[in-house]
Amino acid sequence: MQKITIAIDGYSSTGKSTVAKQLAKHLGYVYVDTGAMYRAVTYYAMTHNLIDDTHFDVVGLVSKLNEVVVSFKFNPIAGFAEVYLNGQNIEKEVRTLEVSSQVSKVAAIPEVRYQLVKQQQQMGKDKGVVMDGRDIGTVVFPYAKLKIFMTASPEKRATRRFDELIGRGDDVTYEDVLRNVQERDYIDSHREDSPLRKADDSVLIDNTGLTQEEQFKLILLLVERAFEDLE
Ligand code: DC
Repeated sequence: MQKITIAIDGYSSTGKSTVAKQLAKHLGYVYVDTGAMYRAVTYYAMTHNLIDDTHFDVVGLVSKLNEVVVSFKFNPIAGFAEVYLNGQNIEKEVRTLEVSSQVSKVAAIPEVRYQLVKQQQQMGKDKGVVMDGRDIGTVVFPYAKLKIFMTASPEKRATRRFDELIGRGDDVTYEDVLRNVQERDYIDSHREDSPLRKADDSVLIDNTGLTQEEQFKLILLLVERAFEDLE
């Protein structure tokens, strides 16, 4: 059976990665979480004192990019590929609110994007991939067979993120999480290089009022249609 490329973009905490993982498993495709790659570079910058709330040594980070090797390794227990930085598993470390509050600044740097986009295109070159992010349908795979753009109200997204962080035992407040969601929306969609925007040919899904099951059913229909279109 012919394989296709599926691009899932959208705002933060819209459940992109949950649905992308589920879909990749269903189709036997590779899932690539590109947000984790930007988070990994951010984690590198944070642990090398290149960024915090008050300073960002962009030149320092760009000069060290050749030392930053981001990779994925499938974890059969988790059921998905976890992110590694220079051989170290940092899957848990990249999901903190601290990383979330710096990542949009790092993701706005063209040199960072150039390096990661090249790697993402390489990962998806044989198709059979579900990739989620912000610029997959617009920049990474503009010819993807199926493009989905996900959104939901900021409050709904903050609630989901808050529940996830609390579930992991993180000490956060709902207000901080909501502020982070809104700040990232703003920076991600206003940056000059590859801003978050819906590709003209992507299908918009607002999942504010949808259950995960309803959303997955809808996406399977879109996948079916994409395959029919190949015939
Ligand atoms: O999907 P996420 O929340 O893990 O993404 C983290 C950040 O990375 C997000 O605020 C924007 C950035 N990002 C991006 O600029 N381009 C992508 N393809 C994926 C993520």
